[in-house]
Amino acid sequence: MSTNVFHLVYISEAVEDISYTDIHDILNVSRKNNAMENITGILIFREGYFFQVLEGPEAAVRKVLGKIIIDDRNYNLRVLLETSDHSRLFENWSMAFYDGDISSNNTEDLVNLFELCVDPAKRTPRPLIMSMVKKFRSTARELR
Ligand SMILES: Cc1cc2nc3c(=O)[nH]c(=O)nc-3n(C[C@H](O)[C@H](O)[C@H](O)COP(=O)(O)O)c2cc1C
Repeated sequence: MSTNVFHLVYISEAVEDISYTDIHDILNVSRKNNAMENITGILIFREGYFFQVLEGPEAAVRKVLGKIIIDDRNYNLRVLLETSDHSRLFENWSMAFYDGDISSNNTEDLVNLFELCVDPAKRTPRPLIMSMVKKFRSTARELR
């Protein structure tokens, strides 16, 4: 079985004055660029943190990561996971978005995920991140 889909998961901190306009701008550009680069994924925003899954050809994913790292709308970007797999988790999404600051979205899974990932000392086990990310797959169908 081929394992040609590269998955990269990171967490970063949003600048303090980040607005929903900024987030919409990020999503608009991401959806346009990612569609051209065959990249899919999900961006989750919660309490000033961005958590993103990027999946696609490794070179394309690394290239966009390089742009995000120097994007001054976020800082302290920490890669949590890099892995290759035979399939995508968010195949229908050039970039799904999940707003973790909306109270009805504040599920136990989301709270757990962020609690584990925001603290660099915690060294979240990779399978745990992946299994939690998978839980957002079904939700992503409803996201815009
Ligand atoms: C948290 C965050 C996530 C981003 N995700 C993506 C992405 O998935 N794809 C993308 O092309 N740009 C993404 N960007 C925007 C890039 O940093 C950059 O502004 C954009 O790719 C530049 O596009 P351009 O080269 O077409 O001007 C993201 C930025 C931030 C702050």
